[in-house]
Amino acid sequence: MADDTRKRYLELSDEIRRHNKLYALAKPEITDTQYDKLYKELEAIEAEHPDWVTPDSPTQTVWGDRSDVFAPVEHRVPMMSLANTYNEDEVREWIGRISKHEENLFGRMEYTCEPKIDGVGLSVHYRDGVMTLAATRGDGRTGENITANARTIKNIRHELLDGPWMEGWIEVRGEVYMALSDFRKENQRREDEGLQPFANPRNATAGSLKMLDSAEVAKRPLKFWAYTLITHDGPLANNLDLRLHSERLFLMEEMGLPMVDWMMAHDADEVHDYWSKLQADRDTMDYEVDGVVVKVNDLRLREELGTTAKAPRWAMAYKFKARREVTTLLAIKHSVGRTGAVTPYAELEPVTIGGATIRNATLHNEDEIQRLGVAPGLRVVLERAGDVIPKVIGLAPDEEQTGEYTPPSNCPSCGSELVQPPGEVIRRCVNISCPAQKRGRLIHFGSRNAMDIDGLGEKTIDLLLDRDLVNDPGDLYALSEEAWSKLPGFKEKSVSNMRQALDASKQRTLDRLIFGLGIRMVGEGAARTLAKRYQTLDALIAAAPNVEELETVDDVGSKMAASIEEFFSLERNLTVINKLREAGVSFGTLPASASGTEHEAFAGKTFVLTGTLVESGLSRRDAQTKIESLGGKVTSSVSKNTDVVVAGEAAGSKLDKANKLGVAVWTEADFLNMLADAGVAG
Ligand code: IVH
Repeated sequence: MADDTRKRYLELSDEIRRHNKLYALAKPEITDTQYDKLYKELEAIEAEHPDWVTPDSPTQTVWGDRSDVFAPVEHRVPMMSLANTYNEDEVREWIGRISKHEENLFGRMEYTCEPKIDGVGLSVHYRDGVMTLAATRGDGRTGENITANARTIKNIRHELLDGPWMEGWIEVRGEVYMALSDFRKENQRREDEGLQPFANPRNATAGSLKMLDSAEVAKRPLKFWAYTLITHDGPLANNLDLRLHSERLFLMEEMGLPMVDWMMAHDADEVHDYWSKLQADRDTMDYEVDGVVVKVNDLRLREELGTTAKAPRWAMAYKFKARREVTTLLAIKHSVGRTGAVTPYAELEPVTIGGATIRNATLHNEDEIQRLGVAPGLRVVLERAGDVIPKVIGLAPDEEQTGEYTPPSNCPSCGSELVQPPGEVIRRCVNISCPAQKRGRLIHFGSRNAMDIDGLGEKTIDLLLDRDLVNDPGDLYALSEEAWSKLPGFKEKSVSNMRQALDASKQRTLDRLIFGLGIRMVGEGAARTLAKRYQTLDALIAAAPNVEELETVDDVGSKMAASIEEFFSLERNLTVINKLREAGVSFGTLPASASGTEHEAFAGKTFVLTGTLVESGLSRRDAQTKIESLGGKVTSSVSKNTDVVVAGEAAGSKLDKANKLGVAVWTEADFLNMLADAGVAG
């Protein structure tokens, strides 16, 4: 009998391990329910025979990716940042300090020099040679599970090439990035589709990795390269000969992973040479490199050097100088935003910096222009630092030049006279029917952080305005399919997409609607606070005439209160609001964190969750949502600012730290009781 059970137990373990692997390779042979059944059976046997449980039992190894998208992932080894410098002397000093340490086995110091690519860090776990988990860096301790998205990156292997790593657990770290050529294509596509282009390849990468639909991520041209190998368990972890970073870089190459193009240096001169060469090559490379990462090669010496709170002492990012060029400022032009604010920008004699042709640059405001002393016709210095939006940083040196800039007195869009309240830097157009403002308001309403109307980009809005089809956001919903289908480029499919996007936007949460209305001074944060306080748009409208009442809302000062009061007192704004109401736009959908009633045990308090909530089976994410719905906040590490640590089963170092700092600790039972008390089911 026991023999049969034993046999079944071993069979089950193998079977589950096999399904884990198939699942990780996205080739599952059974459904999740069938899998859960096998797993429960295994757990039941283990409960009867605890002495059978070995560390390699499927119940003891986390395969990681059966959890939620974006669920928190604790890094076993923190993902630290790097100390950085632009200064050669600092690099020499740092190397000088390190070379005082005992020399390594080979009688001399070794430093690996790697390009510092400007992308997004990623940790990828492999178990028995199969990719099981990918996580973002997050705050360095806890990242987010983005396995499904990372799987779509074409040069990340799902299964490693054969080698001793086909057994055990390793973690590969590297950078996800977008090549410059791909980035340009991607932005062109976005502009064609009427979407907001990304500011730089890094933002494009970060945005892509955080998308909820991995089928969409798959369309983004993301790439990866590896620069760190961590061995957690198995033959590689037990190999005491693996003492150099460079050996690990070679191993990753053998695994079939895309590798950084690195070089070995032995002293500060060699490091500096590599840096100079790479800096000179920078403009010919198809990705954004912002410096060199110099790392001590010997892992034992790394341990001796240790780390500071944020960064290891054994590595340094030696950054490149910002890219600058001199060109002629042809004209100072002005754009008019949705609130009528007039902003100057530079029109430049085209110049290439780092492979990109620059024609325009921001000038911020009149004070900035005075400070820089720039004027049309003068030679100016342009800087492109890391990202793609360049700025004018001053006049070209060694050229005697003067000129004059006269700020505009009339709106460049509608010609009406501009006003500049005393003491303010910004001039404004106060003509409410100014075409530029109208355009700005429509763009803002549909933008990603407001009503998020997919496909309603600047190009589409210009088409609508040119044909006089809309005046304000309220008109968008009333447009007939026929009207849409008459726009150039709008075929059946795009008309129906537009319809769907508009319909979907009717259910946006109240904070987005308030933000989207474009009330001066009301940003996203204030919109959230107002939504939470008033719960419906009508309640806000009813409260608006009373400025004192508005000022009692957190974060609403007297200026913002006056602006809200003014906005809702204007007939034309109420007309827009009525059009939205008639179209069926929801005036009272609340974000999860605003709909719950706050509870004193949770409101305003900072929580840390640790261990597993066994009794309730709540995932960390669900527990977090519940705490937030009651007005609390969840962070990942325990400090003296933590109010409560909720300790589930097998809570570890966080619980110790809470006890040391005297932070309140709740057991799972305490937590469930508190939730019940607040009227929330566990
Ligand atoms: S090593 C403690 N190597 O730069 C070691 N990082 O500023 C830190 N990065 O978060 C990571 N290229 O995302 C390392 N060759 C390279 C890198 C690199 C880019 C990024 C990485 C890291 C950030 C730190």
